[in-house]
Amino acid sequence: MRISVIGCGYVGLVTGACLAEAGHEVMCTDIDAARIAQLQAGGVPIYEEHLEEVLVSARKAGRISYTSDATEAIRFGDAIFICVGTPPREDGSADLSAIDHVAQQIAAVAQNSKLIVEKSTVPARTGQELNRALEAYSRGGSRRFAVVSNPEFLREGTAVFDFFHPDRIVVGVDDEAAGTAMQSIYEPILEHKFRCPMHQNGCPAEPKAEFLVTTINSAELIKHASNSFLALKISYANVIADLCEKLDGNVEQVTHAMGLDPRIGTQFLKAGLGFGGFCFPKDIQAFIQLAGSVGVDFDILKAAERVNKERIERFLEKVKRALWVVKGKKVAVLGLAFKANTDDIRFSPAIEVIRRLVEEGAQVHTTDPEAMEKAKKILPGVVFHADPYEAVRETHAALVCTEWSLYRNLDWERAGKLMARRLVLDGRNLYSPKKMADLGFEYFSFGRS
Ligand code: UDX
Repeated sequence: MRISVIGCGYVGLVTGACLAEAGHEVMCTDIDAARIAQLQAGGVPIYEEHLEEVLVSARKAGRISYTSDATEAIRFGDAIFICVGTPPREDGSADLSAIDHVAQQIAAVAQNSKLIVEKSTVPARTGQELNRALEAYSRGGSRRFAVVSNPEFLREGTAVFDFFHPDRIVVGVDDEAAGTAMQSIYEPILEHKFRCPMHQNGCPAEPKAEFLVTTINSAELIKHASNSFLALKISYANVIADLCEKLDGNVEQVTHAMGLDPRIGTQFLKAGLGFGGFCFPKDIQAFIQLAGSVGVDFDILKAAERVNKERIERFLEKVKRALWVVKGKKVAVLGLAFKANTDDIRFSPAIEVIRRLVEEGAQVHTTDPEAMEKAKKILPGVVFHADPYEAVRETHAALVCTEWSLYRNLDWERAGKLMARRLVLDGRNLYSPKKMADLGFEYFSFGRS
């Protein structure tokens, strides 16, 4: 099937690349002409593992192309995947203006019927409004636009893996034909008929992903509900960490034991500096707003958001208690990205920690394997080091903010010799308190007294 992708952010690029690699003809467009020019020149505007490899392979096979001419892209596809941004507005609700704009474009230039696939994260009832907008701007005629909601569950850092090895594929439709068309689009993924960049010798046997056909509203709710529940789980683990500090428990032991109950599950129970990134913070805000707009007070999500915001305060309290005076101290911050394996610093707890330390008068030295270029643009007065050992040199404390394996495997014996004081504050519970104590460190983390 011929597929158009509108919006070449990380969801659009990963979706376009993987569908092309799975055998479809894909044309991508974006309002950012420079981004399209970079892609046409073979460049990749985002850091995402395996993405470049898949884009190169799809291009060699002549199955992916890029245009800054939206009309050309809209007319190309039988299915149009809308992957534009839905950033938060002042009140936290999702800004849907980019989707509305695309609807007007499609209604204005499409020459035949299309499948219109919502891939962007949107609040429930957006599909209904999109349908209405397409009808209103189409002024009759024979073209039919079938709107489908197809939420993505891609995690930054593992997005290509997540696309090719989904837990489930959800499509919200108004009619059966649209569901069948979506099944044919995803059939190569479901049947593993693609060259997998992660598994050169063939993918390991795994249960076939479920292909779920729901209503459009349900599909839109599934995305917000899933992300919000994961955020809730993290905040729950963080409150357990606070309790463990008060009651002399160990949060790692508690959450490990909890997770062994398959009804709870081991994932997303890692206590620490809390969640960041461009999904969880904005999705729970948008979900709270949506619920409020129909008279549902989502107070447990509000609590999860409050608990998450408090992580920074909790961490800075530990720093102040340990350093006594922060002003004039040289502090190393290891990690800038909101999580490991991405260069994304949006809503990153590490950035907020650094901002607060600078406000307190500390000299901040920082490092990150991928996110420094982006962070340099927003952190004036901070010193950046490519080498983590240079970042900790002569510092009074080292703060671990992102769970990169580089820091998980850092040689603290060597680092300790370079530091002015062997003091580590670990915002991601990467190390064993005993091991760090044996190395002569003062060591503080979350939920482990
Ligand atoms: C998330 C969802 O996982 C994905 O399905 C959705 O499509 C987009 O949003 P992402 O934002 O890339 O993906 O990050 P994720 O891996 O989910 O982590 C989110 C945040 O939670 C990170 O800041 C991470 O450090 C934090 N986290 C995660 C914890 O603090 N504890 C955990 O146990 C897990």
